[in-house]
This record gives sequence, structure tokens and C-alpha cells, in this order.
Amino acid sequence: MTKHVLITGGAGFIGSHIADLLLRTGHSVRVLDNLTPQVHGDVGGRPHYLDADAELVIGDVRDRSRLETALDGIDAVIHLAAAVGVGQSMYDIVSYVQTNDVGTAVLLEALSKRPVERLVVASSMSVYGEGLARRMDGTAVSPKERGLDQLRRGDWELRDRDGEVLRPIPTPESKQPALSSVYALNKYTQERMALIVGKAYGISTVALRFFNVYGPRQALSNPYTGVLAIFAARLLNSRPPLVFEDGLQQRDFVHVSDVARACLLALTTQTGIGQVFNIGSGQSRTVISIADDLARVVGMSQITPRITAKYRSGDIRHCFADISQSRTTLGYSPQVDFRAGLEELAAWLEGQLADDKIDSATAELERRGLVA
Ligand SMILES: NC(=O)c1ccc[n+]([C@@H]2O[C@H](COP(=O)([O-])OP(=O)(O)OC[C@H]3O[C@@H](n4cnc5c(N)ncnc54)[C@H](O)[C@@H]3O)[C@@H](O)[C@H]2O)c1
Repeated sequence: MTKHVLITGGAGFIGSHIADLLLRTGHSVRVLDNLTPQVHGDVGGRPHYLDADAELVIGDVRDRSRLETALDGIDAVIHLAAAVGVGQSMYDIVSYVQTNDVGTAVLLEALSKRPVERLVVASSMSVYGEGLARRMDGTAVSPKERGLDQLRRGDWELRDRDGEVLRPIPTPESKQPALSSVYALNKYTQERMALIVGKAYGISTVALRFFNVYGPRQALSNPYTGVLAIFAARLLNSRPPLVFEDGLQQRDFVHVSDVARACLLALTTQTGIGQVFNIGSGQSRTVISIADDLARVVGMSQITPRITAKYRSGDIRHCFADISQSRTTLGYSPQVDFRAGLEELAAWLEGQLADDKIDSATAELERRGLVA
């Protein structure tokens, strides 16, 4: 049955792919987005990639009356509108709290007066802090954040109290959150607030913790988010990607079309209401390996990524998803092989121009003592 779906932040990277999938599967889509300049550039205007059948309401989620207009006739909401960047959240604190926490509060207050059938909220792997790890004796542990002394020595790996190196393992939803940036705190607040208010007002709510999402349409000129997009922006300007620490930190890269499929499942599932789910690929990759892979697929393997041996405040060492819960409860199954996804990204990059702002963004963090 056709659902009328509102996607907040739907003109962005992930939202536009969800819009495509919903329209393809017979739903109607309205997008509420303020076209943030950091993501969409200063000129603004409707992004050319946004499907013509998606209705665009330009407005801020914090604007109550605009939001109420956008909610008119809507059955389900996918809430993506957010300021997205771990490093930037550590100094642009008021703006992150306003957009992410207050924005979600305004949405939920509007929904409390006019409940919808379903709410899907985008959370993030950042809520875990360090992912789960194992000691040599096989016991699973939630690693402590690395201390400044350790990082200053360039000793990057996670260790237990006795100094033994811990081996990262897939992180399930049951891992206790360990919030190490304002952005992580925002995402946790968003998911909890949505689940609490959803339950109170009979709105079936599902929270999805996305891991590192990649694919076409990622904002290449936004230096604060999306490691593959940031590396791509460097390569398109014939500069080496800058890799923090030693590059051996592990992440989970999930293709945006798999994330879109997960959102559709969350919109229709009869099980898992009121729960959170990891949406990743279930595979781990080192950051240096993806910098090398990207340079190769864009035909620039002569450019060697530069390992900075620096660390950024709020960064974690390893985190990748255990997706067994989303497989069994939502029926989620990632389809896009990483190599095929990278090839597709490379083909899209061919037609793109990118303003590489990473040096100024890193200088900003350095000036504030957030990179060392
Ligand atoms: N990209 C990832 O790897 C990733 C990982 C984990 C979670 N997420 C979450 O997924 C969601 C979408 O992320 P994305 O990668 O598509 O980011 P994006 O920046 O491409 O999209 C976010 C959209 O929200 C809009 N927006 C920002 N503030 C707004 C406001 N106040 N009112 C209305 N619209 C506003 C922006 O203009 C943009 O179009 C976010 O909630 C993000 O936290 C993303």
C-alpha cells in the first residue's frame, strides 16, 4: 500500500537514495531540508540528483510551522536532518545541539500532537565509542578510550589494564554506548528521544545505527564527514589523502543503497519496533587500505596516502558492525560488494569537481588543540 513518507534531510546523500528507492517501490515522498550550505554549497537550490517526483519543502526542522506544513498528509517519517561531523561537533557545539537535539525535539513535539504510523530515526555507530574487543584469553571487553599519554607516544592500539593489546571484534547493539564526541551524544539523544516519544504516543519507531556510509552523491566539499568522500576530494585535486594515526584503524563501510534498503525494511517491519539496529556491511577494513583502494580505482595509484601519525580528539580506534540482529529481525542483508561499490563511486567521481577543504578544516581543529 502506498505510504506518504516525509524524509527530513532528504536532499542529502543518504536521504536522496532513500527517496529513489521509496519512489521505485510505489510510495510518495516529501523532503524537508534546509539545504545547509556546508553540504549543498552556497548557491543552494534543489539538488539535480533529487528525483523530480520527490516533493521538496525547503525549511528547517526547527521551524515548527514549516514542519507542521511538511507533516500534512504524511503516514511515516524518516528523520535524517542533522549536522554530521565528529570533529566539527567538538567546537561548533551550540549549532550541533540545536540542529540535532533541538531539531529532533521540535519534530517529536509536532508528532506528539499529530502522530504518524511509523518513525525511522538515523543514529550512528559513533554512539559505541570504541567497538567491542577480545582479550588473548578470549573474553570480550568494552575497551577504555585511549589516554593522551598513550596517543602522544604514537601507541595507537587499544590495551587492557595490563597493557595487553586487544583484538577488535564485531560490535552488537548490546554494547554499552561510550560517547566520545558531541556528535555521538547528539545521535544517542536523537535515538533515545525518538524511541521514548514514539512509545508514549503509539508511533512505531525504529532506530538505525548507520556505520560508514559511502556511495555517489556524498558531499565532496564537506571536509567534516565521510572519509571516502574526503579522500576522493584530495585525489580529485591530485593531493594525497591524509590518514590519521597509522592508518590501521578499522571501520565498516556500507554502501548507501544497502542503507536505503534498511530504511525501507524499518518502514515496513512488523518486528523490532522500539529497537535499535546496526546497519553496516558486517566487514572490517583498515582506513589505509580504503585510501589505497580508492586511489587505485580512480587511476591515481601513483599518489600514496600520507600517514600523518596525528590523532583527532573524539576519534576511536576500531568499530565494525555485528549485523546478526538486523539480519534476523529486519531481514536486512547487505548486497553491494565493496569492490563493486568502489568502482561505481569512481565512475561517479569522474564527472565531479571537489573543493578540497581538508587542510583548512584540519588547521581549524589544530588551532583548537583537537588534533595532536
Ligand atoms: N553518512 C554516514 O556515514 C552516516 C553515518 C552514520 C549516521 N549518519 C546519519 O545519517 C543522516 C544523513 O546523513 P548524510 O550522510 O546523508 O548527511 P548529509 O549532510 O548529506 O545530509 C543531511 C541533510 O540534512 C539537511 N539538514 C541539516 N540541518 C538541517 C535542518 N536544521 N533542517 C533541515 N534539514 C537539515 C542538510 O541540508 C542535508 O541535506 C544523518 O542523521 C547522519 O547523522 C550518516
